[in-house]
Amino acid sequence: MGALVSSLLKMVRRLIGENINVSYVEPETPLWVMADSNQIDQVILNLCINARDAMPDGGKLILELSTATFTDSDSRARPWIRAGDFVVLAVSDTGTGMSPTTLQRIFEPFFTTKGQGHGTGLGLAVVQGVIQQHLGMINVYSEPGHGTTFRVYLPATEKPSDEPHHTAHGHAPLLPAHHRTLLLAEDDSNVRLTTAAQLRRFGYEIIEAADGQTAVDIIRANPRIDAALLDIVMPGLSGWEAARIIQHTHPMLPIVLCSGYSAQLMDSSPLPSHWRYLAKPYPGDALLRMLQEMLADIPPKAPTSAPSAPPS
Ligand SMILES: Nc1ncnc2c1ncn2[C@@H]1O[C@H](COP(=O)(O)OP(=O)(O)OP(=O)(O)O)[C@@H](O)[C@H]1O
Ligand SMILES: [Mg+2]
Repeated sequence: MGALVSSLLKMVRRLIGENINVSYVEPETPLWVMADSNQIDQVILNLCINARDAMPDGGKLILELSTATFTDSDSRARPWIRAGDFVVLAVSDTGTGMSPTTLQRIFEPFFTTKGQGHGTGLGLAVVQGVIQQHLGMINVYSEPGHGTTFRVYLPATEKPSDEPHHTAHGHAPLLPAHHRTLLLAEDDSNVRLTTAAQLRRFGYEIIEAADGQTAVDIIRANPRIDAALLDIVMPGLSGWEAARIIQHTHPMLPIVLCSGYSAQLMDSSPLPSHWRYLAKPYPGDALLRMLQEMLADIPPKAPTSAPSAPPS
């Protein structure tokens, strides 16, 4: 926001003329909003031109950026306020000010006190529309003979991340897997097939199992398995029981336990740090992200060429 105001300042000074002193009070830290910069430029220019028109004999125009945080009780006390963090742009002038009756009507389209051919009365209507589109607020303080302050509030956002390995959502990008073999144990064949297909599309080698005992047997027979994905509710050995058995022979094997039940219902003991719980149904890429993160620092066990074993 500071950069936007700074870069607009030259144009403002040119529009305003020399008998008006323009100053800009910069924020102490960078302030971020999610906004259409052209529209915000328009808002600022409209406010500055109105200020100029209110100071035919010269005066001061002050632009100021700051922040404000409003609580629910603020918004109960003053209905125009929404709770939250805001970036505040104040545009103040030492001009004519406005009477209460003028103040009541300034946002009306075509309301103008400027003579024919001087004002359309659309400036502030447009300003208000833009601010509303940005889920912001606008407030005016003015008294005849004492100048005017318009305050525009735009919802504050975090600094956008510019680290190249992070997307807008703060996630590391998903990369295809190379030379990774997963055991997938799931008794519901539809779920198993679709999960396996998704993982294979992403480059994983998948060995399927339809129950917990088969999962344990496959892990014991295949030293190249990099991680196990175990459904918790399966006939015979549950995913939990299978995981506890696997832990004895493969204590460092990353394991994802999946279930439609809440994690709290399943087991009271905390998971080992290289195990994860994944609640079903999970969003499309949640499993891929989890696996990528779990395997990030572990070298692949071995490149594979063997075909996947069918479920027993
Ligand atoms: N800074 C200000 N000081 C005093 N009066 C103001 C100020 N800003 C707005 N007004 C009043 O609000 C009215 C409406 O403003 P608005 O910007 O919507 O239209 P306008 O300035 O009259 O026309 P246009 O924007 O098309 O030039 C103005 O005519 C003026 O009476
Ligand atoms: Mg105007």
